[in-house]
Amino acid sequence: MWKTSFVVLQLLLLGSSVSFIVVDGLRRDEYPPHFVFGASTSAYQVEGAADEDGRKPSIWDSFAHAGNANMYEGNGDIACDQYHKYKEDVELMAKMGLDAYRFSISWSRLIPDGKGPINQKGLQYYNNLINELISHGIQPHVTLYHWDLPQTLEDEYGGWINQKIVRDFTAYADVCFREFGDRVKHWTTVNEGNVFAQGGYDIGFLPPQHCSSPSIFNCSKGNSSTEPYLVTHNMLLAHASAARLYRNKYQDKQHGFIGFNLLTYGFVPLTNTSEDIIAAQRAQDFFLGWYLNPLIFGDYPEIMKKNVGSRLPTFTKSESNLLKGSMGFLGINFYFSFYVKDNPKTLNIKDRDYLADMAVELTAYTTNDTATEEFPIVPWTLQGLVDSLKNIYGDFPIYIHENGMQTHRNSSLEDWKRVNYLNEYIGSVLDMLRNGHDIRGYFVWSFMDVFELLGGFETTYGLYYIDLKDPTLRRQPKLSSLWYSNFLNNRTMDPMVAIQMEKNSPLLINNNNKNNSLLRNAI
Ligand SMILES: *[C@@H]1O[C@H](CO)[C@@H](O)[C@H](O)[C@H]1NC(C)=O
Ligand SMILES: *[C@@H]1O[C@H](CO)[C@@H](O)[C@H](O)[C@H]1NC(C)=O
Ligand SMILES: *[C@@H]1O[C@H](CO)[C@@H](O)[C@H](O)[C@H]1NC(C)=O
Ligand SMILES: *[C@@H]1O[C@H](CO)[C@@H](O)[C@H](O)[C@H]1NC(C)=O
Ligand SMILES: *[C@@H]1O[C@H](CO)[C@@H](O)[C@H](O)[C@H]1NC(C)=O
Ligand SMILES: *[C@@H]1O[C@H](CO)[C@@H](O)[C@H](O)[C@H]1NC(C)=O
Ligand SMILES: *[C@@H]1O[C@H](CO)[C@@H](O)[C@H](O)[C@H]1NC(C)=O
Repeated sequence: MWKTSFVVLQLLLLGSSVSFIVVDGLRRDEYPPHFVFGASTSAYQVEGAADEDGRKPSIWDSFAHAGNANMYEGNGDIACDQYHKYKEDVELMAKMGLDAYRFSISWSRLIPDGKGPINQKGLQYYNNLINELISHGIQPHVTLYHWDLPQTLEDEYGGWINQKIVRDFTAYADVCFREFGDRVKHWTTVNEGNVFAQGGYDIGFLPPQHCSSPSIFNCSKGNSSTEPYLVTHNMLLAHASAARLYRNKYQDKQHGFIGFNLLTYGFVPLTNTSEDIIAAQRAQDFFLGWYLNPLIFGDYPEIMKKNVGSRLPTFTKSESNLLKGSMGFLGINFYFSFYVKDNPKTLNIKDRDYLADMAVELTAYTTNDTATEEFPIVPWTLQGLVDSLKNIYGDFPIYIHENGMQTHRNSSLEDWKRVNYLNEYIGSVLDMLRNGHDIRGYFVWSFMDVFELLGGFETTYGLYYIDLKDPTLRRQPKLSSLWYSNFLNNRTMDPMVAIQMEKNSPLLINNNNKNNSLLRNAI
C-alpha cells in the first residue's frame, strides 16, 4: 500500500497564514518510463473563435446560447481563446513538463456541416496545434467527439438518435485519421458517452436537451424511456465503425490506438445487505457495463436486457462481432463516488426512464470534511472500481483521462485542496500500477479554467486561472500548477519549495489581479 505522510504545518509567511504539506514517497521516476502525465481540455470549452474562419455551431453552442438549461450563464464564444493563444498555451505546457495534452477536435470547425466539404482553416488550425505540441515534445491525445455535434446533423436527422450518424461519424473520423494520424497516435472516439446519453436524453440538462420524464428541465422534445438507449447504441456502432476503418486503412502505417471514454464512479453499497450489494453491481452495469459489455463481450449486460426489455436495441451478429475487442483502451474520467441503495419500486413506474430502469437510489459518497463545492478525496473508491473492472472484463489498457477538484471561480490561487486531491489520486495510481493494473497515463482536468459543462465559468478545475475581465485572458498559475510541474520534473512535492523555485526561475507571468499574497509575493 502506497502511503503519504503528511506533515501539516501552520506557518506565518509573508503576512499570511498558510498550511503547508510535505509529502514524501511520490516521485515521477517511480512511474514506468512510458507512463504519460498530461492535462485535458475540450474544443468548445477552450477554443473560442466560435464563428470565425468558417466554423459553424454545434449542439453545445445552441444549448449555451439558449441559456444552459437555466443553470448558469455564459457560452464558449470566446472561452479561453485557445484558437488564437495555442502557442502560448503549448509553451506553458512544455514549461510545466507535460508529456501529453488531451484536447478534442471541433467537428463543426473541421467539417462545418458535419459532412461534406472540409474547412481548410479548421484543418490548418489543428495541424498548427498538433505541430506545436510535437515540436515541444508533447504527445497529442485527441478526442473526436466531446459533446459538440454539428448542429446541421441534429437539424437534418436528429443527430445521435438516428443511425445515419454512424456513417457521418465514420467519415469525420476518416478525415482526422488521414490528416492528423501521422502525428496523433491516441484517439478517443467519444468522451463520456454515458453522461451524454443520460444528461442529454434522459434528464435533459445537457445538450441537446431532450427529455420526457417529469423533470425540472423543460425539454421541447425527447423520450427518456427510449432515446438514451438509442443514442448509446448508435455511439457504440459509430465507435466500432471508426475503429474498423482505422484497423483496415491506417493501422499498418500509423500504429495508433483507438479508445472510448466513460465517466466513472465508485459504487459503494449503502449497507451490507445483499440487496444493496447487488444494487451497487447493477448501478455499475447500467453506468459502465452499458458500454463495456458490448465493447468487450459484444452485448449489453443481462440485467439491462431484463429491466429495459424491448426498449433496449439489439445488435446483429455482425455488429456484435465488430464491437467485440474494438476498444484499444478505456479512458476513465473520475471525480467522485456514490453510495448505492436498492430501490425496486421505480420498476413499477409506467414509461420509466433510464434512471428508473436502474432501480437504485444514489447519494454522493462523502467524508466528514467535504465542503459543499469540493469533492471528497476517496482514492480507494477509484481503486475499488479499477479492481472490479479487471475482475469482470480482464486486463485492458486504461488512461485516467480526467481527474480533478472543483472549486468556485472566486477561490484562491493558493489551491491547497486541489494539490491535496491531485496528490492523493496520483499516489493511488502508483498503487494500482504496483497491483498490476495496466494504466498508461494520467491527465488532470483541466489544464486551465475552462467553460464548464456543469457550471459555466463559475466552477473551475484549472491548473491556471484566467481572469475573464482581463481582455488579454492571461493565464495565471495556481499553486497546483507549480506543484504538478515540480512533480513532473522529478523534484520535491513540497509546494512551498515549488514557490521558492518559481521565484528563481519563473514559469510565468505576473499575477497581480487577485488577492493571493503568497503567490504574488513569491513571483
Ligand atoms: C420550466 O418551466 C417552468 C414553468 O414555465 C418554470 O417555472 C421553470 O423555471 C422552468 N425550469 C427551467 C429549468 O427552465
Ligand atoms: C416513448 O417511446 C415509447 C416507445 O415508442 C412509447 O411507448 C412512449 O409513449 C414514448 N413516450 C413519450 C413520452 O413520448
Ligand atoms: C460492510 O462490510 C465491510 C467488510 O466487512 C466493512 O468494512 C464495512 O464497513 C461494512 N459497511 C457497512 C455500511 O456496514
Ligand atoms: C462522521 O461524522 C459522524 C457524525 O458526526 C460520526 O458519527 C462519524 O463517526 C464520522 N465519521 C468519520 C469517518 O469520521
Ligand atoms: C464572486 O466574486 C464576484 C466579484 O467579486 C461577486 O460579485 C460574486 O458574488 C462572487 N460569488 C461568490 C459565489 O462568492
Ligand atoms: C529523481 O529524483 C530522485 C530523488 O531525488 C533521484 O534519485 C532520481 O535519480 C531522479 N530521477 C531522474 C530520472 O532524474
Ligand atoms: C487579502 O486577503 C487577506 C486574507 O484572506 C485579507 O486579510 C486582506 O485584507 C486581503 N487584502 C486585500 C487587499 O483585499
